[in-house]
Amino acid sequence: MWFSNAPQLVFINEVSVRDGFQIEPEFIPTGQKIDLIDQLSATGLAKIEITSFVSPKAIPNLRDAEAVARGIRRHPDVTYAALVPNERGCERALTCGMDEINLVMSASETHNLANMRMTCAQSIEQFRGVMQLVQGTALRVSGCIATAFGCPFEGEIAPERVKWAAEQYLGMGMHSITLADTTGMADPRQVGALAAAFHAWFPGVPLTLHFHNTRGMGLSNVLAGLAAGVTSFDASLGGLGGCPFAPGATGNICTEDLVHMLESSGVDTGVDLDRLLGVALGLPALVGHDISGQVVKAGKRTDLHPRPAWLETR
Ligand code: COA
Ligand code: ZN
Repeated sequence: MWFSNAPQLVFINEVSVRDGFQIEPEFIPTGQKIDLIDQLSATGLAKIEITSFVSPKAIPNLRDAEAVARGIRRHPDVTYAALVPNERGCERALTCGMDEINLVMSASETHNLANMRMTCAQSIEQFRGVMQLVQGTALRVSGCIATAFGCPFEGEIAPERVKWAAEQYLGMGMHSITLADTTGMADPRQVGALAAAFHAWFPGVPLTLHFHNTRGMGLSNVLAGLAAGVTSFDASLGGLGGCPFAPGATGNICTEDLVHMLESSGVDTGVDLDRLLGVALGLPALVGHDISGQVVKAGKRTDLHPRPAWLETR
Protein backbone atom coordinates (compact mmCIF):
# COMPACT_ATOMS: atom_id res chain seq x y z
CA MET A 1 0.00 0.00 0.00
CA TRP A 2 1.34 3.42 -0.95
CA PHE A 3 0.52 4.96 2.37
CA SER A 4 -0.49 3.19 5.50
CA ASN A 5 -4.11 4.31 5.86
CA ALA A 6 -5.20 4.30 2.21
CA PRO A 7 -8.64 2.71 1.78
CA GLN A 8 -9.31 0.06 -0.88
CA LEU A 9 -12.58 1.58 -2.03
CA VAL A 10 -13.73 5.19 -2.31
CA PHE A 11 -17.27 6.42 -2.94
CA ILE A 12 -17.82 9.34 -5.28
CA ASN A 13 -20.80 11.67 -5.18
CA GLU A 14 -21.12 13.39 -8.55
CA VAL A 15 -22.25 17.02 -8.17
CA SER A 16 -21.82 18.55 -11.64
CA VAL A 17 -25.52 18.74 -12.32
CA ARG A 18 -26.10 20.64 -9.05
CA ASP A 19 -22.92 22.48 -7.99
CA GLY A 20 -21.82 22.76 -11.62
CA PHE A 21 -24.97 23.84 -13.37
CA GLN A 22 -26.08 26.24 -10.60
CA ILE A 23 -23.31 28.67 -11.59
CA GLU A 24 -23.23 28.22 -15.37
CA PRO A 25 -23.85 31.47 -17.25
CA GLU A 26 -26.57 29.81 -19.34
CA PHE A 27 -29.54 27.65 -18.30
CA ILE A 28 -28.93 24.05 -19.35
CA PRO A 29 -32.16 22.75 -20.92
CA THR A 30 -34.01 20.18 -18.79
CA GLY A 31 -33.78 17.40 -21.39
CA GLN A 32 -30.01 17.80 -21.60
CA LYS A 33 -29.68 17.67 -17.80
CA ILE A 34 -31.71 14.45 -17.75
CA ASP A 35 -29.64 12.97 -20.55
CA LEU A 36 -26.40 13.78 -18.74
CA ILE A 37 -27.65 12.27 -15.45
CA ASP A 38 -28.72 9.12 -17.31
CA GLN A 39 -25.26 8.83 -18.86
CA LEU A 40 -23.60 9.40 -15.47
CA SER A 41 -25.86 6.75 -13.92
CA ALA A 42 -24.25 4.15 -16.20
CA THR A 43 -20.66 4.90 -15.14
CA GLY A 44 -20.66 3.22 -11.73
CA LEU A 45 -20.84 6.39 -9.62
CA ALA A 46 -22.18 5.69 -6.13
CA LYS A 47 -24.30 8.82 -5.83
CA ILE A 48 -25.42 11.72 -8.03
CA GLU A 49 -26.65 15.04 -6.65
CA ILE A 50 -29.07 15.84 -9.43
CA THR A 51 -30.50 19.25 -8.50
CA SER A 52 -31.48 21.68 -5.71
CA PHE A 53 -34.96 22.29 -4.38
CA VAL A 54 -34.17 25.93 -3.68
CA SER A 55 -35.82 29.21 -4.57
CA PRO A 56 -35.88 29.63 -8.36
CA LYS A 57 -35.11 33.29 -7.73
CA ALA A 58 -31.93 32.37 -5.84
CA ILE A 59 -30.77 29.73 -8.38
CA PRO A 60 -32.65 30.20 -11.67
CA ASN A 61 -30.55 27.53 -13.39
CA LEU A 62 -32.12 24.80 -11.23
CA ARG A 63 -35.71 26.00 -11.52
CA ASP A 64 -36.59 22.71 -13.25
CA ALA A 65 -35.79 20.51 -10.23
CA GLU A 66 -39.04 18.51 -10.26
CA ALA A 67 -38.90 17.89 -14.01
CA VAL A 68 -35.31 16.68 -13.74
CA ALA A 69 -35.99 14.44 -10.73
CA ARG A 70 -39.04 12.90 -12.39
CA GLY A 71 -37.46 12.61 -15.83
CA ILE A 72 -34.34 10.60 -15.09
CA ARG A 73 -34.02 6.81 -15.38
CA ARG A 74 -33.14 5.52 -11.91
CA HIS A 75 -30.30 3.04 -11.78
CA PRO A 76 -30.79 0.65 -8.84
CA ASP A 77 -27.17 0.99 -7.68
CA VAL A 78 -27.11 4.79 -7.67
CA THR A 79 -28.31 7.02 -4.83
CA TYR A 80 -30.09 10.09 -6.18
CA ALA A 81 -29.67 13.12 -3.93
CA ALA A 82 -30.68 16.78 -4.01
CA LEU A 83 -29.76 19.89 -2.07
CA VAL A 84 -32.46 21.32 0.19
CA PRO A 85 -32.27 24.62 2.14
CA ASN A 86 -35.57 24.61 4.06
CA GLU A 87 -38.88 22.86 4.75
CA ARG A 88 -40.35 23.98 1.46
CA GLY A 89 -37.48 22.32 -0.38
CA CYS A 90 -38.05 19.08 1.55
CA GLU A 91 -41.75 19.09 0.65
CA ARG A 92 -40.78 19.40 -3.00
CA ALA A 93 -38.18 16.62 -2.75
CA LEU A 94 -40.74 14.31 -1.16
CA THR A 95 -43.02 14.66 -4.18
CA CYS A 96 -40.20 13.47 -6.46
CA GLY A 97 -39.13 10.24 -4.78
CA MET A 98 -35.59 11.34 -3.99
CA ASP A 99 -33.39 8.81 -2.15
CA GLU A 100 -31.58 11.45 -0.12
CA ILE A 101 -31.60 15.16 0.61
CA ASN A 102 -28.57 17.17 1.55
CA LEU A 103 -29.36 20.00 3.97
CA VAL A 104 -26.89 22.86 3.76
CA MET A 105 -25.88 25.43 6.34
CA SER A 106 -22.60 27.31 6.45
CA ALA A 107 -20.23 27.26 9.39
CA SER A 108 -19.90 30.99 8.77
CA GLU A 109 -22.89 33.17 9.75
CA THR A 110 -22.02 35.68 7.03
CA HIS A 111 -21.93 33.11 4.24
CA ASN A 112 -25.15 31.51 5.50
CA LEU A 113 -26.84 34.92 5.35
CA ALA A 114 -25.46 35.59 1.86
CA ASN A 115 -26.30 32.12 0.55
CA MET A 116 -29.47 31.12 2.38
CA ARG A 117 -30.70 34.52 3.61
CA MET A 118 -30.99 32.97 7.06
CA THR A 119 -28.99 33.02 10.27
CA CYS A 120 -27.61 29.64 11.28
CA ALA A 121 -30.28 29.52 14.02
CA GLN A 122 -32.98 30.01 11.38
CA SER A 123 -31.47 27.27 9.20
CA ILE A 124 -31.45 24.91 12.17
CA GLU A 125 -35.10 25.75 12.86
CA GLN A 126 -35.94 24.89 9.24
CA PHE A 127 -34.00 21.63 9.49
CA ARG A 128 -35.95 20.60 12.59
CA GLY A 129 -39.07 20.99 10.50
CA VAL A 130 -37.48 18.92 7.72
CA MET A 131 -36.73 16.09 10.14
CA GLN A 132 -40.43 16.09 11.13
CA LEU A 133 -41.47 16.03 7.48
CA VAL A 134 -39.33 13.00 6.61
CA GLN A 135 -40.51 10.91 9.57
CA GLY A 136 -42.07 7.70 8.32
CA THR A 137 -40.74 8.20 4.78
CA ALA A 138 -37.80 6.47 3.09
CA LEU A 139 -36.03 9.79 2.43
CA ARG A 140 -32.58 9.88 4.02
CA VAL A 141 -31.17 13.17 5.28
CA SER A 142 -27.55 14.20 5.21
CA GLY A 143 -26.11 17.43 6.59
CA CYS A 144 -23.60 19.60 4.75
CA ILE A 145 -21.51 22.23 6.51
CA ALA A 146 -20.46 24.82 3.92
CA THR A 147 -17.37 27.04 4.39
CA ALA A 148 -16.09 24.44 6.89
CA PHE A 149 -12.47 25.14 5.93
CA GLY A 150 -12.69 28.91 5.56
CA CYS A 151 -15.10 31.67 4.56
CA PRO A 152 -14.51 34.30 1.88
CA PHE A 153 -16.09 36.91 4.21
CA GLU A 154 -14.96 35.81 7.69
CA GLY A 155 -11.67 34.01 6.94
CA GLU A 156 -10.60 31.21 9.25
CA ILE A 157 -13.32 28.99 10.68
CA ALA A 158 -12.57 27.51 14.10
CA PRO A 159 -12.80 23.70 14.20
CA GLU A 160 -15.08 24.10 17.24
CA ARG A 161 -17.59 25.89 15.04
CA VAL A 162 -17.61 22.94 12.62
CA LYS A 163 -18.04 20.59 15.57
CA TRP A 164 -20.97 22.66 16.82
CA ALA A 165 -22.68 22.56 13.41
CA ALA A 166 -22.19 18.78 13.13
CA GLU A 167 -23.61 18.34 16.63
CA GLN A 168 -26.73 20.22 15.57
CA TYR A 169 -27.17 17.94 12.56
CA LEU A 170 -26.49 14.68 14.37
CA GLY A 171 -28.64 15.75 17.31
CA MET A 172 -31.57 16.01 14.89
CA GLY A 173 -30.96 12.48 13.62
CA MET A 174 -29.11 13.05 10.34
CA HIS A 175 -27.15 10.00 9.25
CA SER A 176 -24.03 11.52 7.68
CA ILE A 177 -22.10 14.77 7.36
CA THR A 178 -20.34 16.55 4.51
CA LEU A 179 -17.65 19.11 5.20
CA ALA A 180 -17.52 21.51 2.25
CA ASP A 181 -14.68 23.78 1.19
CA THR A 182 -16.91 26.22 -0.66
CA THR A 183 -14.20 28.45 -2.11
CA GLY A 184 -11.08 26.28 -2.16
CA MET A 185 -9.48 27.62 1.02
CA ALA A 186 -8.64 24.22 2.53
CA ASP A 187 -5.04 23.03 2.61
CA PRO A 188 -3.90 19.43 3.09
CA ARG A 189 -2.64 19.90 6.65
CA GLN A 190 -5.93 21.48 7.69
CA VAL A 191 -7.93 18.72 5.96
CA GLY A 192 -5.96 15.99 7.74
CA ALA A 193 -6.40 17.70 11.11
CA LEU A 194 -10.13 18.43 10.71
CA ALA A 195 -10.95 14.96 9.35
CA ALA A 196 -9.04 13.33 12.21
CA ALA A 197 -10.80 15.59 14.71
CA PHE A 198 -14.18 14.73 13.16
CA HIS A 199 -13.55 11.00 13.52
CA ALA A 200 -12.50 11.53 17.14
CA TRP A 201 -15.55 13.69 17.93
CA PHE A 202 -18.06 11.50 16.10
CA PRO A 203 -16.75 7.92 15.88
CA GLY A 204 -18.51 5.90 13.19
CA VAL A 205 -20.36 8.84 11.61
CA PRO A 206 -19.95 8.71 7.80
CA LEU A 207 -18.00 11.73 6.56
CA THR A 208 -17.85 13.09 3.01
CA LEU A 209 -15.43 15.79 1.91
CA HIS A 210 -16.38 18.36 -0.74
CA PHE A 211 -13.48 20.26 -2.28
CA HIS A 212 -13.19 23.04 -4.81
CA ASN A 213 -9.98 23.37 -6.77
CA THR A 214 -9.96 27.18 -6.63
CA ARG A 215 -6.33 27.34 -5.52
CA GLY A 216 -5.08 24.10 -7.05
CA MET A 217 -5.15 22.17 -3.77
CA GLY A 218 -8.21 20.01 -4.52
CA LEU A 219 -6.65 16.61 -5.23
CA SER A 220 -3.96 17.14 -2.59
CA ASN A 221 -6.76 17.68 -0.12
CA VAL A 222 -8.31 14.37 -1.20
CA LEU A 223 -5.03 12.62 -0.39
CA ALA A 224 -4.98 14.28 3.03
CA GLY A 225 -8.56 13.08 3.56
CA LEU A 226 -7.68 9.53 2.50
CA ALA A 227 -4.73 9.48 4.87
CA ALA A 228 -7.15 10.45 7.65
CA GLY A 229 -9.43 7.54 6.73
CA VAL A 230 -12.10 9.38 4.70
CA THR A 231 -13.66 7.21 1.99
CA SER A 232 -16.31 9.46 0.45
CA PHE A 233 -15.75 12.52 -1.75
CA ASP A 234 -17.86 14.91 -3.80
CA ALA A 235 -16.55 15.71 -7.28
CA SER A 236 -17.84 17.26 -10.46
CA LEU A 237 -17.55 16.15 -14.08
CA GLY A 238 -15.20 18.46 -15.94
CA GLY A 239 -14.48 20.32 -12.70
CA LEU A 240 -17.61 22.48 -13.12
CA GLY A 241 -18.99 24.20 -10.05
CA GLY A 242 -19.12 27.06 -7.62
CA CYS A 243 -21.44 28.89 -5.24
CA PRO A 244 -23.03 32.00 -6.79
CA PHE A 245 -23.12 33.62 -3.33
CA ALA A 246 -19.40 33.23 -2.53
CA PRO A 247 -17.04 35.74 -4.18
CA GLY A 248 -14.31 34.08 -6.22
CA ALA A 249 -15.91 30.64 -6.19
CA THR A 250 -14.70 28.29 -8.94
CA GLY A 251 -15.06 24.65 -9.85
CA ASN A 252 -15.09 21.50 -7.77
CA ILE A 253 -12.41 18.86 -8.01
CA CYS A 254 -12.84 17.11 -11.34
CA THR A 255 -14.45 13.66 -11.13
CA GLU A 256 -12.58 12.05 -14.01
CA ASP A 257 -9.24 13.40 -12.76
CA LEU A 258 -10.06 12.11 -9.26
CA VAL A 259 -11.01 8.65 -10.54
CA HIS A 260 -7.86 8.56 -12.70
CA MET A 261 -5.65 9.49 -9.73
CA LEU A 262 -7.27 6.96 -7.42
CA GLU A 263 -7.28 4.09 -9.92
CA SER A 264 -3.64 4.81 -10.81
CA SER A 265 -2.88 4.56 -7.11
CA GLY A 266 -4.70 1.26 -6.70
CA VAL A 267 -7.81 2.65 -4.99
CA ASP A 268 -11.08 1.37 -6.47
CA THR A 269 -13.98 3.78 -7.05
CA GLY A 270 -16.38 1.43 -8.84
CA VAL A 271 -16.38 3.93 -11.72
CA ASP A 272 -15.70 2.91 -15.31
CA LEU A 273 -13.13 5.58 -16.17
CA ASP A 274 -13.35 5.14 -19.95
CA ARG A 275 -17.09 5.52 -19.86
CA LEU A 276 -16.81 8.56 -17.58
CA LEU A 277 -14.25 10.15 -19.91
CA GLY A 278 -16.66 9.54 -22.78
CA VAL A 279 -19.34 11.50 -20.92
CA ALA A 280 -16.86 14.27 -20.06
CA LEU A 281 -15.92 14.59 -23.74
CA GLY A 282 -19.45 15.78 -24.49
CA LEU A 283 -19.49 18.35 -21.70
CA PRO A 284 -17.90 21.37 -23.50
CA ALA A 285 -20.59 21.18 -26.20
CA LEU A 286 -23.27 20.98 -23.50
CA VAL A 287 -22.10 23.96 -21.43
CA GLY A 288 -20.67 25.95 -24.33
CA HIS A 289 -17.14 26.40 -22.98
CA ASP A 290 -13.92 24.57 -22.24
CA ILE A 291 -13.72 22.51 -19.03
CA SER A 292 -10.88 22.31 -16.55
CA GLY A 293 -10.43 18.52 -16.48
CA GLN A 294 -6.90 17.42 -17.34
CA VAL A 295 -7.23 13.73 -18.20
CA VAL A 296 -9.92 14.29 -20.80
CA LYS A 297 -7.41 16.46 -22.70
CA ALA A 298 -4.17 14.58 -22.01
CA GLY A 299 -5.59 11.05 -22.08
CA LYS A 300 -4.94 8.46 -19.40
CA ARG A 301 -1.34 7.94 -18.31
CA THR A 302 -1.49 4.52 -19.94
CA ASP A 303 -2.59 5.90 -23.35
CA LEU A 304 0.47 5.53 -25.56
CA HIS A 305 1.39 7.54 -28.64
CA PRO A 306 2.92 6.09 -31.81
CA ARG A 307 6.72 6.08 -31.86
CA PRO A 308 8.12 8.91 -33.99
CA ALA A 309 8.22 7.70 -37.61
CA TRP A 310 11.92 8.52 -38.01
CA LEU A 311 12.79 6.01 -35.31
CA GLU A 312 11.47 3.21 -37.53
CA THR A 313 13.98 3.97 -40.31
CA ARG A 314 17.03 3.71 -38.07
N1 COA B 1 -38.19 26.12 -3.24
C1 COA B 1 -38.87 26.97 -4.05
N2 COA B 1 -39.23 28.19 -3.68
C2 COA B 1 -38.91 28.57 -2.44
C3 COA B 1 -38.23 27.75 -1.55
C4 COA B 1 -37.85 26.47 -2.01
N3 COA B 1 -37.17 25.63 -1.24
N4 COA B 1 -38.06 28.40 -0.40
C5 COA B 1 -38.64 29.60 -0.55
N5 COA B 1 -39.16 29.71 -1.79
C6 COA B 1 -39.84 30.84 -2.40
C7 COA B 1 -40.95 31.39 -1.54
O1 COA B 1 -42.13 30.70 -1.82
C8 COA B 1 -41.00 32.81 -1.99
O2 COA B 1 -41.63 32.90 -3.24
P1 COA B 1 -42.44 34.22 -3.68
O3 COA B 1 -41.47 35.36 -3.67
O4 COA B 1 -42.92 33.87 -5.05
O5 COA B 1 -43.50 34.35 -2.65
C9 COA B 1 -39.54 33.15 -2.23
O6 COA B 1 -38.90 31.91 -2.51
C10 COA B 1 -38.88 33.81 -1.05
O7 COA B 1 -39.13 33.01 0.09
P2 COA B 1 -38.41 33.27 1.48
O8 COA B 1 -38.84 32.23 2.45
O9 COA B 1 -38.61 34.73 1.88
O10 COA B 1 -36.94 32.99 1.11
P3 COA B 1 -35.69 33.94 0.97
O11 COA B 1 -35.87 34.92 -0.13
O12 COA B 1 -35.35 34.46 2.32
O13 COA B 1 -34.59 32.85 0.50
C11 COA B 1 -33.92 30.54 0.42
C12 COA B 1 -34.30 31.71 1.31
C13 COA B 1 -33.23 29.53 1.30
C14 COA B 1 -35.19 29.94 -0.17
C15 COA B 1 -32.99 31.03 -0.73
O14 COA B 1 -32.00 31.84 -0.22
C16 COA B 1 -32.37 29.88 -1.46
O15 COA B 1 -33.06 29.12 -2.12
N6 COA B 1 -31.04 29.72 -1.39
C17 COA B 1 -30.34 28.66 -2.03
C18 COA B 1 -28.94 29.10 -2.33
C19 COA B 1 -28.13 28.00 -2.98
O16 COA B 1 -28.64 27.02 -3.48
N7 COA B 1 -26.80 28.22 -2.98
C20 COA B 1 -25.86 27.34 -3.61
C21 COA B 1 -25.72 26.03 -2.96
S1 COA B 1 -24.76 26.04 -1.50
ZN1 ZN C 1 -19.51 23.27 -3.76
